[in-house]
Amino acid sequence: VTKYWKVDPDTVGSRGEELSDAAALLRDGDTVAFPTETVYGLGADATNTSAVERIFSAKGRPSDNPLIVHIADAGQLSALIEPDSVTPDHRRLMEAFWPGPLTIVLPVKTGGISPLVTAGLKTVGIRIPDHPVALELLRKAALPIAAPSANSSGRPSPTLASHVEEDLDGRIGGIVDGGGTGVGVESTVIQLVDGELYILRPGGVTAEQLQSALPAIRIHEPEREDVQVSETPRAPGMKYTHYAPKGYMHIVYGDNAEAVAAWIQRDIQAAKERGESTGILTFEERVFLFEADLVIACGSLAEPEKIAQELYAALRRFDQQGIEYIAAEGCPETGIGQAIMNRLRKAAGHRLVRV
Ligand code: TXA
Ligand code: MG
Repeated sequence: VTKYWKVDPDTVGSRGEELSDAAALLRDGDTVAFPTETVYGLGADATNTSAVERIFSAKGRPSDNPLIVHIADAGQLSALIEPDSVTPDHRRLMEAFWPGPLTIVLPVKTGGISPLVTAGLKTVGIRIPDHPVALELLRKAALPIAAPSANSSGRPSPTLASHVEEDLDGRIGGIVDGGGTGVGVESTVIQLVDGELYILRPGGVTAEQLQSALPAIRIHEPEREDVQVSETPRAPGMKYTHYAPKGYMHIVYGDNAEAVAAWIQRDIQAAKERGESTGILTFEERVFLFEADLVIACGSLAEPEKIAQELYAALRRFDQQGIEYIAAEGCPETGIGQAIMNRLRKAAGHRLVRV
């Protein structure tokens, strides 16, 4: 059975005993889900191969996808990475964004952590999460903790403890429930190569923020693999999807907001006529434009941070209601909008309709 602890992030640590059981479970080589400022993570001792194996089997995660290592303090770095691998640029990023949603990929030290964590790579992704519950648990466990998002592989990441239960109850050692996470999408994963910065995964720290921390650096953003879709319903997308609802989904976007709304409403009408249950993912200011079995206002275009916060819970709701055909509106790809559109694309198998 999966143990369950409810913890108040505002008072965690003040009574000493809290999280001792969860930390003991981690030290015993078991798995524990815990909140971070981005999404819930599924943690295990990064130095213990059988503990790390439990993460992969609970999630059904392919073993070639490396895990992020979470630490409480930059002092733990030297046990994990090659000596002298932290450059002044790395240091600047750590000062600017740790604790916070930035994962930095560095050369891994041999013999430090289990090779399963890095999927056999010579590098390891590391971050210090900015969440009082995560930090207290990491301090109590006093170990580097490998933690992917605490969802079943392929499903939307969990932003509530109930999402973790939905996917992993009975398959993991424990769940620390610290309420809703903050940012709502995962950390930004970056690597510095030959003095240039590569964003491997956009996330909670934006490209704009990275640029202002390192004004002179050249930033490379990940390629977009769009599959342009026309009017045909149920067009094939990329085989590899992630965060995806069980129903069919594509993204609809364009500069003319009215034309986008009209296209979506026609598309949804056609799905209804085929006998499918229908869903639309849109924003607060546009929800009145639409009619479907389930219309979700996911945050507001005026406040993209809210869209990020609500995105994964919204994607899960389509499944909870068994929706078969979904049209999702795109948002502008600036700031956190890059991470939002990156996740939406993956959820939609990269199918994009340009109106
Ligand atoms: O916000 C987050 O990062 C959350 C919370 C729990 O911290 N964790 C998370 O982990 O999103 P996960 O496993 O779902 O995603 C880890 C990402 C993957 O895209 C993986 O490929 C990349 O980080 N990654 C990890 N180690 C890497 C490495 N050595 N080189 C390149 N990419 C790496
Ligand atoms: Mg994940």
